[in-house]
Amino acid sequence: MAEIVIVRDKAAAGALVAEHIASLIRDNPETVLGLATGSTPLPVYEALRTRLEGVDVSRVRGFALDEYVGIDPAHPESYRSVITREVVEPLGLNPALIRTPDGTPEGIEHHGEEYDEAIREAGGIDLQILGIGTDGHIGFNEPGSSFASITRVKTLTEQTRKDNARFFDSIDDVPMHCITQGLGTILRARHLVLLAFGEGKAAAVAGAVEGPVTASLPGSAIQLHERATVVVDEAAASQL
Ligand code: GLP
Repeated sequence: MAEIVIVRDKAAAGALVAEHIASLIRDNPETVLGLATGSTPLPVYEALRTRLEGVDVSRVRGFALDEYVGIDPAHPESYRSVITREVVEPLGLNPALIRTPDGTPEGIEHHGEEYDEAIREAGGIDLQILGIGTDGHIGFNEPGSSFASITRVKTLTEQTRKDNARFFDSIDDVPMHCITQGLGTILRARHLVLLAFGEGKAAAVAGAVEGPVTASLPGSAIQLHERATVVVDEAAASQL
């Protein structure tokens, strides 16, 4: 059973998770973080700016959850660019130690396995930050994803493309495919911290935390993890 923490607002969630991450890094400067994109984790990254002042972050390693396939890495909405802008630069992390899955189409069939191998070589992820999609996806593991899946190419659902269209000029510009850490990859992290805010996430949160463990709601995979923390505001907790 996941530990549920209901907080007043996003800022309180960000502060709580950032304090915990800062203490991990103080104890182990080689901490390996699992980084999520989307709007949900932004308060955590924001709060880390002050929490990491004076902390040696030069050896912190990070692995992003996912990336679009075929997007120019320099595109402002590639997850590589987002992680660089929101995490690496403001926190002063070493960019060479922060990876995103390689979404270049050439050789894409190998990029997933290579990514999971790189995570293993780094010693595994200490803390994986997660958001959740309105359809219950985590990373880009859409409904129907296997709980044993490794990092691989997936097709985005229409719903997710609609949800993410706000970051692009139009829905036609949202890529059709992505490369995402698998649910099996995510479950190997030592601690999962799933955040969700707002009423729009309430059904997905309730399904993930209390519903049946099912591939039709990928977030329910967190129930299989022995250390999962769910940090939500009251609106996102309203169907629990
Ligand atoms: C995207 C990301 C997910 C994220 C989800 C929710 O699809 N690939 O990792 O959890 O969106 O986004 P938001 O946090 O903006 O609601």
